Amino acid sequence: MPFRINLGGEAEVLGVLNQQGRWIVSLSGWRSSQTGQTFEDLVRAGHDFLIADNTALPLPDDVVDEVITNNIPPVDSVTWLGPTVQSSEVRRILKSGGRWILQWHRSVHQAMTAFFDLFVRHSSDPSVRDDPTWADRRFPELVASSPFHLWRPGDPVPERGDRYLIGVATWSGYDMRLLDVIAEALRRNRVDPPAIDVFNTAECRQQQDFDRYISGIGTVLQTPVVGYWNNGHLADSEQAYAALDFLAGVFGFCSAEIVAFVQDWIKAQAHA
Ligand SMILES: C[S@@+](CC[C@H](N)C(=O)[O-])C[C@H]1O[C@@H](n2cnc3c(N)ncnc32)[C@H](O)[C@@H]1O
Repeated sequence: MPFRINLGGEAEVLGVLNQQGRWIVSLSGWRSSQTGQTFEDLVRAGHDFLIADNTALPLPDDVVDEVITNNIPPVDSVTWLGPTVQSSEVRRILKSGGRWILQWHRSVHQAMTAFFDLFVRHSSDPSVRDDPTWADRRFPELVASSPFHLWRPGDPVPERGDRYLIGVATWSGYDMRLLDVIAEALRRNRVDPPAIDVFNTAECRQQQDFDRYISGIGTVLQTPVVGYWNNGHLADSEQAYAALDFLAGVFGFCSAEIVAFVQDWIKAQAHA
């Protein structure tokens, strides 16, 4: 049987070993992006995990037939959780002739929309794929042409009415699709839309930086993150699947739609 490992995997691919950073066990409150399951739930359901730092995978050289990476931060970079997946480690563990399946290797997506399109282009266009900050640099101009407002610490918070602040990662297809779905919901439904501010989680280099956006959010283990203010007061905050679910309730969509959309796109890449 081929040895397949999903780096940054959360059981979204069946029958593989899912590698994760130690934060999913050492910090409480972690939930999987697609289903909101705890680590224990996933293990109980029979999924295999390898908890290991991205910089030092505890595997010998030349043992893996297939490495998979889906919706993870750019390889060879650093986020608030530490170093991301390292291409040197991928090359080291892959057998000669083994494959690295980057979900974004090929570009044939028909139903592109603005934010997801940014993710697709960054993932697939050879001229920008290797530039880790390309999508982050384009994010502000995309927000400027959307119904959202790019919020920075120190900017005002509306004193009246509802306000949402949503933090997203440009490397997460789920987060980019989320913004498209909310933009679409606003266009369709809302006569008097609430204020929707957004920020790029790449602006947060360490955990404490998130507090400057959503005070008291605690340890952020997954994106998206959301804060909800009423009449100028922070009333609620969520992250990961709970944030998706919260926003789904507010804007009238189903969180499963977001997951299915991204999964369909991944499958389309595999068959392209
Ligand atoms: C959006 S989730 C995607 C999970 C799954 N592969 C999927 O596509 O459904 C991003 C994953 O990247 C992992 N990851 C690995 N290294 C990371 C890092 N340095 N910073 C943030 N997330 C990281 C997280 O633990 C998280 O499980």
